[in-house]
Amino acid sequence: MGRLDDRVACITGAGSGIGRATAELFAAEGAIVVAQDLDSSTAEETVAGLGGGHHVAVGGDVSDEEAMASAFAAILTDFGRLDVLVNNAGVFRLPGDGFDRVLAGEGPQICHMGYEPFMQMLAIHVGGTFLCTRAAVPLMLDGGSVVNLSSIAGIAGWGPAHYAAAKGAILGLTRSLARELGPHRIRVNAVAPGVINTPMVDELDSAMIDPLVSMTPMGRIGEAAEIASTVLFLAGNDGAFVTGQWISPNGGLITC
Ligand SMILES: NC(=O)c1ccc[n+]([C@@H]2O[C@H](COP(=O)([O-])OP(=O)(O)OC[C@H]3O[C@@H](n4cnc5c(N)ncnc54)[C@H](O)[C@@H]3O)[C@@H](O)[C@H]2O)c1
Repeated sequence: MGRLDDRVACITGAGSGIGRATAELFAAEGAIVVAQDLDSSTAEETVAGLGGGHHVAVGGDVSDEEAMASAFAAILTDFGRLDVLVNNAGVFRLPGDGFDRVLAGEGPQICHMGYEPFMQMLAIHVGGTFLCTRAAVPLMLDGGSVVNLSSIAGIAGWGPAHYAAAKGAILGLTRSLARELGPHRIRVNAVAPGVINTPMVDELDSAMIDPLVSMTPMGRIGEAAEIASTVLFLAGNDGAFVTGQWISPNGGLITC
């Protein structure tokens, strides 16, 4: 018996990192996985690695209203319902956000951050979470579970302003939707990881990562599979009475 036997689960950003690890764990626990990603070829690679079953790959930008409406309409056509949504898709850097100027020693990032990348970051993380959840809820005919990827950036402020603002807003959205959807037997929770070993972190300068690792009681960064197992807890029956909460697997980097 798997923890997600025959549940239909859509994971956004499933072509890499935490999303791919979650797809692998969910499939191993018996779920039918809809692997969504901006880069459909990576979503297809994820599905190819799941070892057979009715899993499907879906391309599209989570911040594109029409694309998400049709992606979730296709889930209804293909599977007749949805049980779990993991809003995981995200980016850490965007062109024009001033990060390169910080690395060049030119002072606070906010002074160099364009308004457009600031708003684009919100559109991907907050807008994408909103659009996918709005499209998914009518498909959760037997109740369901929504798990949103936040970050310690959204709790403690680590990370650039656009990213921290987006990840903090996801916590507010999570709490509000938990209240609104609880009576409909849909739970909504967030996972707020610390620094995790994925391609998103690979592209960062070690000058950013090393101080965080040295402040982490467990003395290392986390692995994507360690976040996937937290997502699984919230997605499945183990977390049956948990809603409106965030869990932060972070090796002790923040403790409140
Ligand atoms: N890695 C970390 O240290 C860390 C820490 C805290 C939170 N997170 C969050 O976890 C989530 C997954 O991050 P990751 O580390 O696995 O990153 P990753 O870069 O490995 O994977 C992110 C995936 O999201 C996809 N994506 C990006 N923009 C998209 C869009 N607009 N529409 C659809 N898909 C899109 C990418 O193509 C990629 O496959 C993100 O929300 C991230 O902010 C990561």
